[in-house]
Amino acid sequence: MIFRSLMLLSSLIALGAGTPALAAERECAQSPGKLIELCVFVQEGQAFYEVSRKGAPVLAPGALGLDFKGEVPVRYTSITGATRSASDTSWEQPWGEQRVVRDHHTEMTVTLAGDTALNAKVNVAFRLFDDGIGFRYDYAAIPAGQAVAVVGERTQFRPVGHQLAWWYQAQAEDRDEYLYTKTDARRITTAETPLTLKGDKGLHLSIHEAALVDFPSMLLSGDGAGTLTATLMPWPDGVLARKTGPFTTPWRTVLIGDNAAALADSRIILNLNEPNRLGDVSWFKPGKYVGVWWEMHLNKSTWGSGPIHGANNANVKRYMDFAAKYGFNGVLVEGWNKGWDGDWIANGAQFSFTESYPDFDLPALAAYGKAKGAGLIGHHETAGAVVNYEHQLEAAMALYQKVGVDRVKTGYVKPSGTILDEAGGQQWYAGQYMVRHHQKVVETAARYKIAINAHEPVKDTGLRRTYPNWVSREAARGQEFNAWGNPTNPPEHVTILPFTRMLAGPMDYTPGIFDLVHGEEKVDARVQSTLATQLALYVVIYSPVQMAADLPENYEARPDAFQFIRDVAVDWETSRTLQAEVGDYVVVARQPRGGTDWFLGAVTDEKARTLTQTLDFLTPGKRYEAQIYADGPGADYKTNPTALTVEKRVVTSKDVLDLNMAPGGGVAVRFKAL
Ligand code: NOJ
Ligand code: CA
Repeated sequence: MIFRSLMLLSSLIALGAGTPALAAERECAQSPGKLIELCVFVQEGQAFYEVSRKGAPVLAPGALGLDFKGEVPVRYTSITGATRSASDTSWEQPWGEQRVVRDHHTEMTVTLAGDTALNAKVNVAFRLFDDGIGFRYDYAAIPAGQAVAVVGERTQFRPVGHQLAWWYQAQAEDRDEYLYTKTDARRITTAETPLTLKGDKGLHLSIHEAALVDFPSMLLSGDGAGTLTATLMPWPDGVLARKTGPFTTPWRTVLIGDNAAALADSRIILNLNEPNRLGDVSWFKPGKYVGVWWEMHLNKSTWGSGPIHGANNANVKRYMDFAAKYGFNGVLVEGWNKGWDGDWIANGAQFSFTESYPDFDLPALAAYGKAKGAGLIGHHETAGAVVNYEHQLEAAMALYQKVGVDRVKTGYVKPSGTILDEAGGQQWYAGQYMVRHHQKVVETAARYKIAINAHEPVKDTGLRRTYPNWVSREAARGQEFNAWGNPTNPPEHVTILPFTRMLAGPMDYTPGIFDLVHGEEKVDARVQSTLATQLALYVVIYSPVQMAADLPENYEARPDAFQFIRDVAVDWETSRTLQAEVGDYVVVARQPRGGTDWFLGAVTDEKARTLTQTLDFLTPGKRYEAQIYADGPGADYKTNPTALTVEKRVVTSKDVLDLNMAPGGGVAVRFKAL
């Protein structure tokens, strides 16, 4: 193949190698539709992979492999074997953004020989899809029972050409709760994944990982020249990962698409995870919920005890009545348990997960909500005191199961890198220790038929496929920052999230604030969006549990807008990103699972925008009533955020809709099948 040898030549040039004739053996594979080609070779003691798409290089040769404690850095000497296979299957999600997921890939497993005992035989499995790749290391030859310590990961990602990146500094105090900056990718110091890049020719890449189990979370470090190297969050002693016997690493993944929308619609991350291990999880019902929550973030009530304690019986019942009246299936209540008084972030070890404050009657409230179809959603804020939490974990889950609570939100508010383990060591929020902890919580919860929505978590890597009770997470700067953030989230934030954080999985963003100004004079102390945008977020930001975050009275004051939240679905047959530019705008359409309607959400950044949207996703020949919630005359997130128009019109798949969006604005549409 001509382009293979051209690529080989270019790779040798990139490596600065002198003579192409010295090329080591090379193993290549192509994706099912032959769009993507990946080759592996060994040269001068290093193993490399490189990737091209439609014959053009996408990733220049990047290093492969791990190094172990007690060994010299390995020199890989040869490829001793390669096996190939192909697979085209479909599987069904119990809930999700898409019911049936197709997994169409080819696989090539290359065996590397290295000159150290632990690296003597390493299998690297590459899976190639038409929209990206994944690969993982399989150290199958390590003897059973032998303890090993990983001290280096060599994996490099070397995008070809000039790239723009959306990223924030990793391992900083607030974990993943940052605004993104857009820079030349060469400016990346250390970035979290998913890391999204846009190349000078418009190609979009997203680097991430899949199936992060019993291994540290992967970050990416830049070298100032465009090479990104895997960086693992270490244990306190500097070891990266501790393993015993043969092991495989998580998948290192690269989504590759012509545009941002293609990244959002890729299912590679899910496909690289193991199938459902929990069996029937029909006890978890996707749904919309409200909560005794925003009022605390606005300082109208407190988590801790006292005269304005939020989690009191009367207040919780008020929310449950409201939820039942308007069709919400859950009510989150924070601050119900002992431990919130004083500096709870510093004193997390004082949290009890079984003792309520006296004004909160757990069994009675759980029963009250359940009888109304608006069940209590539990809350376990650990403040990062995970030893304390693990000691109480069984009892805490057993208690919730006993009173009929089947969803729990967890929380880990603690500066990153200061979580104390049993030995007093300081742990990162997403090192191997915390990856194990979250896994333990989810598996324990599953035994009690409880679903977990983790805040301040380890980032998502598609594990909801294997553990479908892991229903949502935060892991980004969510709506809470719009209560007290300095600054609050600028309008572009929700046009970046779908192509960065959301490529990992569902997010508990908690949309639906109607009182956007909430008494604040300065724009950057308010919710910087229009009312229509808050509605559109129910479609744009996927989660099987969607909060209506505002206070009941604010919903009852705007029945026109509230109708959309009541109507919108949370579980989908299919989802499609229709048009998008990262950081500028996004339009998403989703069809409810088992339904004939469609929903559309569009949001823009701080610029007003009109997008022309074809409706060819609708079923041809069918008529729909389009219920359009759009920015009203004069709407502007700065000066007039709540102006809204609600219009109804009959449309078919042949129609075109103009999506007129104000600055910070959006459009939400329900297409009701007629
Ligand atoms: C941070 C969470 O993200 C937020 O939702 C919660 O209210 C607070 N922690 C208190 O647990
Ligand atoms: Ca948070």
